Amino acid sequence: MSIIEPDSRHISVLLDELVDSIKIFEDRKNIVVDCTLWLAWHACKIIQKMKPWDLFVWFDADTRNLALAKEKLSFLHSEVEIILIHSNFSELKSKLAEHWITSITGIYYDLWISSLHVDDADRWFSFRANGPLDMRFDASTWKTAADIINYSSKDELEEIIRYYWEEASFRKIADRIIQRRKQEKFTTTADLANFIDEISNYPKTKTKVFQAFRIAVNAELESIKVSITDAIDMLESQGNIFVISFHSLEDRITKQLLKIETRDCICSDLICTCHHTKRLRLHTKKPILPSQKEIDENSRSKSAKARGAMKL
Ligand SMILES: C[S@@+](CC[C@H](N)C(=O)[O-])C[C@H]1O[C@@H](n2cnc3c(N)ncnc32)[C@H](O)[C@@H]1O
Repeated sequence: MSIIEPDSRHISVLLDELVDSIKIFEDRKNIVVDCTLWLAWHACKIIQKMKPWDLFVWFDADTRNLALAKEKLSFLHSEVEIILIHSNFSELKSKLAEHWITSITGIYYDLWISSLHVDDADRWFSFRANGPLDMRFDASTWKTAADIINYSSKDELEEIIRYYWEEASFRKIADRIIQRRKQEKFTTTADLANFIDEISNYPKTKTKVFQAFRIAVNAELESIKVSITDAIDMLESQGNIFVISFHSLEDRITKQLLKIETRDCICSDLICTCHHTKRLRLHTKKPILPSQKEIDENSRSKSAKARGAMKL
C-alpha cells in the first residue's frame, strides 16, 4: 500500500469536500495552511493541486504526528515549498509571522483527535486502555487531565462538567469528584473510568467525560476561537477557510465566527454604530455533512460537520 493512500488506521473525513473548497489560484502564489496535520491525507491531496513554488504550511501540536507526516512527505516529490510547524494552531499568526507570512490564500481545520490518539494505549485519551491520566496533544504543555481533575476549584470543575460534558447535574458530580479526590487522587484513565461507572450506567457517559476533560486540558475551544479569528483576518480576497468539526461546541463556535463576518452590521442600534463590514461569503448556508456512503465506509465520520467560507 502506498504511503500516500489511505489505510485502515485513519480515513480522512470529507476529503473531496475539503479539497474542492480550498481554491488554488493560477495568477498568484498560493499559501495554504493545514492547521491539523496528522497523517496528512487532506494535505497530500491539496499539495497535489498546488503549483510549483506555492507554499504549504502544516501545523500540529503533536510532535509524533509531525514525524509521521514528514516521512510521508518524502514520498510526494512535490515542488511545493513546505513548512512544518510544531505548535498549537492558536499561535497561527505569530508562528506564520516568524516565516514572514502575513496573508494566506487558504486554510483548513480537521478538528477531531487523530485515530492514533484514540486507538493507541500510550496516548491516554481513551478509557479503553489504562495509562496515566494525561490527554495532552502537546506533551510540552504542563497541565494534564490529572492536574485538572485533582486540583481545579469546584467552580472550574462545574464549568467543565456543565459546558464541555453538557451535564445538567454538574454541581452534584463536581461534589462527588471532590469527595473522591480527598480520599485518593485520580492518576490513571482507569481511575476516571471506574469513577464514571459509579455515577452513571449510561454507556455514552464515559465518552462524553473523557472528551470533556480533553477539551479542557488542551483549551480546545479557546484555541479554535483565536485561530479562526486570526485566519479570517489573514485570508486574502477570494481565499477560503474550511472547518470540519466533530463536537457540537466546536461547530457552534465555527458557525458563529463565520456567520458574524457575513453581516454588514452587528449592532442592534437603529442607526448602525458598529461600522462592521461583511468580510465572508459562506460556501453553503447549511453545514456540509458526510454522505451515507462515507458513513458506511467510515463510521467515525458520522458526527462530522463542515463549514466553509470565502473572503470577499
Ligand atoms: C483528525 S487529525 C487530522 C487528520 C488530517 N486532516 C489527515 O488528513 O490525516 C487532527 C490532528 O490535529 C492535531 N491537533 C488537534 N488540536 C490541535 C491544535 N489546537 N493545534 C495544532 N494541532 C492540533 C492533532 O494532534 C491531530 O494530529
